[in-house]
Amino acid sequence: MTPFRLALALILCFIAVPASAQTIAQAVQAAPSVASGTSPSGTIKVDVTLTAEGRTGYRISRDGKAVIADSRLGFLFTDAPEMLRNFQVAGQSTRKSDDTWDEPWGEYRSIRNRYTELTVNFDEKAWLKRRMTVVFRIYDDGVGFRYQLPRAANFTRANIADELTEFNVAEAGEAWWDEALEWNREEYPYRRTRIEEIGTAQTPLTVRMASGLHLSFHEAALVDYSGMNLRRVQGRVLKASLTPSSSGPKVSRATPVATPWRVIMIAPDAPSLYKSAQIVLNLNEPNKLGDVSWVKPMKYVGIWWDMHLDRKTWNSGPKHGATTAYTKQMIDFAAANGFGGVLVEGWNKGWDGDWFGRGFEFSFTEPYPDFDIKELARYARSKGVVLIGHHETAGNIVNYEKQLGPALDLYKSLGIPAVKTGYVADAGGIQAPGPDGTTRFEWHEGQVMVNHHLKVVTEASKRHIAVNPHEPVKDTGLRRTYPNWIAREGQRGMEYNAWGEPKNPPEHEANLIFTRMLSGPMDFTPGVVSLIGKNNTQIQSTLAKQLALYVVIYSPIQMAPDLIENYEANPTAFRFIKDVAVDWDDTRMLAGEVGDLAVIARKARGSGTWFLGAVGDEQERRFDVSLSFLGRGRYRAEIYRDGDTADYRTNARDMVAEQRVVSGSDRLALRIAPGGGAAIRFVPLSN
Ligand code: NOJ
Ligand code: CA
Repeated sequence: MTPFRLALALILCFIAVPASAQTIAQAVQAAPSVASGTSPSGTIKVDVTLTAEGRTGYRISRDGKAVIADSRLGFLFTDAPEMLRNFQVAGQSTRKSDDTWDEPWGEYRSIRNRYTELTVNFDEKAWLKRRMTVVFRIYDDGVGFRYQLPRAANFTRANIADELTEFNVAEAGEAWWDEALEWNREEYPYRRTRIEEIGTAQTPLTVRMASGLHLSFHEAALVDYSGMNLRRVQGRVLKASLTPSSSGPKVSRATPVATPWRVIMIAPDAPSLYKSAQIVLNLNEPNKLGDVSWVKPMKYVGIWWDMHLDRKTWNSGPKHGATTAYTKQMIDFAAANGFGGVLVEGWNKGWDGDWFGRGFEFSFTEPYPDFDIKELARYARSKGVVLIGHHETAGNIVNYEKQLGPALDLYKSLGIPAVKTGYVADAGGIQAPGPDGTTRFEWHEGQVMVNHHLKVVTEASKRHIAVNPHEPVKDTGLRRTYPNWIAREGQRGMEYNAWGEPKNPPEHEANLIFTRMLSGPMDFTPGVVSLIGKNNTQIQSTLAKQLALYVVIYSPIQMAPDLIENYEANPTAFRFIKDVAVDWDDTRMLAGEVGDLAVIARKARGSGTWFLGAVGDEQERRFDVSLSFLGRGRYRAEIYRDGDTADYRTNARDMVAEQRVVSGSDRLALRIAPGGGAAIRFVPLSN
């Protein structure tokens, strides 16, 4: 802006904004601070506020600059007056904490949990005189806060109509978000809009402010509560909007209640935002299961993509996929190529007929007659491979919960150490037990399902079985507390490239990494090397990108979903899929921009080998990164990159596999084709 235009703009500003509007703007900012706390190195400051009418709120700044402007706190109840105003401060305290814990499996060997905790008690001045406590944990890269509602004679049950929690983004910026509370559950492509154009969004919701600061809004430790969505109510104010329940209140619980943590990750750039996701784990309780060495990260294959391509069926009949013979072929393929598990879908009775959103007929203990489960479990074991179980419920948890114990007992007796569960039903179409034997319709992320998933995970843990739900409740870091909750779906995975309308766009994964992936591992099922979906349709990806996905989309279980014949026809690409690790000592994002590019290096757990994955979007992208993460010594870099003419639209299979000797003092510059990616294994050399 020229000095003249600046002067003009300032003059116009004063003319255009009436004095009253200025006063209101100031008044909103002026909520007096009644308590404050700063993060361990002083970067982030939280002020807890109380207005003259006794309304509680908070605001957050980073290095003295507003990040979250004055935002309200409180609750509406279905059977009691709101908790919103007439509060007074009844005490406050601060404490500091700094410890480090180990992930039994994960992206990091250990994670530091260092924060300042600020607790403020608010008491209602009159009438019911209830207490609302707000606990803030202030990190150098974000803030978590939760409410505590203590028990009182006049407050024995909290029937929460909604939460009044607000997040008032202090600066203009862009947002990456996907629709919440619509029919297709969590599976909407991401939208990129101005903050002022957000509708009702799922979390994590990610924002890049005009100043370049990156924020992501999410929650941690979602237990016995309903999932939080964010609805823009005015300007840049996002408000919590809890997932509904059939019973009226969105949450109904005996007091005392501690809510999930509301989380705001705050980072100077996209790569640091990716690391800030550690806050979500840190806000969860430590491992409650003790020794979990029985939870095994692994790569797996399965009878799955066949059905999504419509070459085979889940139901019985001439195209039935889950036959004893085909499963043995899969087990042999897994054993010959070093895969740990074989997933088989459509093995059990109940798939014939109209199961979607119905699920009355599913038996979780009776296999179809052409699937000899005992023999297959034995055969797999003899080959050093395990079967992975499958429980598709079609969202009918009335039917599933009745069979849960025997179903898991069966797997335990056969040595099946993991189960993929599924809840295929439209949003709001979960059939759950209601009062007196009735059936109630619920949402996938409502309190009923939050409790259902934890029940399945706990029952499974008693039998040393890991759980991987599809159409799940979102991840909020509970894998820290229950490490057998090994992964989940919860966004558009590879299956959308089989039959999705539209298929996943080239930027999908570059969006996921900075949104959905901040919540936890995703069973995305990368590695379709044929690049072909249902009816011979083209996937919008280059071949090299399919390999990169194993590194950039984190999950301790990674599938190689393509057909055996397609891996056999693509031995070079398949080599990387066989080589890539799934469990890590360390993770570093070397370069990244939300929705455009992510370059991630990870060190294989208990080994000196590093892997690098890079994915872009629909445009050509380039990166040039230091290899200093390699530390000392020389490495053989086995590079799988887009060829010079690669392009997802015209030449998706053009991939170059080449080797170089590199060291930590080198840099690596690569081109990523439109729709492309790169994958590298760094093997330490002995001299
Ligand atoms: C949807 C899941 O995401 C998919 O992986 C599974 O094959 C089908 N449901 C059937 O259970
Ligand atoms: Ca982009």
